[in-house]
Order: sequence, then structure tokens, then C-alpha cells
Amino acid sequence: MAAWIVLAVVGLALFGLFLYWLLVITEGVYLGRRVVVWLYDLTAVKYDGIKEFEPEMESFFVVRPLRHRLRHIPAPLILDAATGTGRVPWFLLEDPLFNGRVIGLDASGKMLRLAAAKLKPYGRRAAFVQQTADRLPFPDNTFHAVTCLESLEFFPSDTAALREMTRVLQPGGVLLVTRRRGREAKLFPGRYRNVPQFEALLRDVGLVDVHTLPWQEDYDQIFGRKPGNGER
Ligand SMILES: C[S@@+](CC[C@H](N)C(=O)[O-])C[C@H]1O[C@@H](n2cnc3c(N)ncnc32)[C@H](O)[C@@H]1O
Repeated sequence: MAAWIVLAVVGLALFGLFLYWLLVITEGVYLGRRVVVWLYDLTAVKYDGIKEFEPEMESFFVVRPLRHRLRHIPAPLILDAATGTGRVPWFLLEDPLFNGRVIGLDASGKMLRLAAAKLKPYGRRAAFVQQTADRLPFPDNTFHAVTCLESLEFFPSDTAALREMTRVLQPGGVLLVTRRRGREAKLFPGRYRNVPQFEALLRDVGLVDVHTLPWQEDYDQIFGRKPGNGER
């Protein structure tokens, strides 16, 4: 009898761990895009409270590097794919030295509603589109920069999304994405990419000047550039 109870408790604990991995650590990615987006819709109102973005850190690691790479463009047009609650648009537009416009795209309607409410004071300088990142509803060669932070590992195909991001970049345009790293990154079997693999993927989709910068415990930043006209 006691052996059955022990077995049942161990079985339940293992099942609980499995569910935690499936729904919390990997955020439903092994169950398909609809589950991922449903989970973000469910938790959208808590997102900013959980992340607690620090303005100085966002400015130093995201806004300034982007501004520097776009310094020759007076009013850059930027796409933030998987914008969530508008992290990149918000911190860019809060910077008085940034004169451009940002379009935030996300598959979760609830995340986008929060982003749109937050960015309302910026009027037409921020716009939001509900769509998946593997079918960007923009013509080729549109944006001076495309960003996608902390999201690629939750897409059905990071490769398809990166191809789309590259397509909509203008020649010479800048890509900033993140690579999952650290302990939990290895808990994404079949999806984890180490630095050489990730950089090779960016080169495969047509980018040059690809380089990785360590950023947070769980993420590296990877910058790349779409070759300019006539450049190979
Ligand atoms: C961890 S959040 C990151 C949000 C934002 N980039 C940030 O750094 O705060 C991941 C975002 O990816 C979005 N997402 C997940 N799958 C997507 C897909 N296939 N296409 C577009 N957005 C997606 C989610 O709705 C969520 O807003």
C-alpha cells in the first residue's frame, strides 16, 4: 500500500514538473503558436510587473546602440517584431534624441492593447499591428531597423521569422535580435542554438556584420546588417 502511495506522489510530482516545463519554461512552444499566444493573452496584464524593465539598462543596452547604428538617418522607421507591451517602442520614444517612428507587431491582441495604451501620448510615432512574425505585412525593403527581443525561441520557426525580418529591412538596415542562453536555454530541445549556430543562421538569411554581445543572464544580443545595394 505504502509503495503505491509513494509511486503516486512521485508520478504526480513528475507530471507537475512536466507541465511546468511545457507551459512555464518553454511557454507552450511545443504545443504550437496558438497556445503560446493564448498564454500571453492570459498573462498580459502581469507582464510589465514581472519584467520590471530598468530605464537606464534599456537606454544603455538597447536604445543607445540602435541610435548609434542609425545615426546617419534623421528619422528612422523601426519595426519591433513581437513587441509585447511595447518595450522597444516605449524606450525609444522616451529618448529625446530619437526622432523616428516605431511599428510594434505581435500575435497577442492583449499584449498589443496594453502597448497601444502606453504609447498613446506619442500619437502617430507609434503604431501597432496584430500579426505573426513569420508573415510580416510590409513590403520588401521598408525599415531602417528591425528588432525582436526575447521572443525568437517561442516562434514556430525562428528561421522563417528571421527571413521575413531580413526581407522587410532596407539595404544597409540593422537587425537586433536575441539568442536564448543560460541554464534554461538547454531546456528547449531541438530549438536551442549556440553562438556559432545562431550567427550562421543570420548569415544564411542574408545578413552581414553579424556579431553577438553578451547581455543578460538569459539572453545575448545579436546584431546584423542587410547588405547595401551593390554590396555582397
Ligand atoms: C517574452 S515576450 C517579449 C516581448 C517584448 N519583445 C519584450 O522584450 O518585452 C514574447 C512576445 O512574443 C509574442 N509572440 C509569440 N509568438 C509570436 C509569433 N509567432 N508572432 C508574433 N509574436 C509572437 C508574444 O505574444 C509576446 O508578446
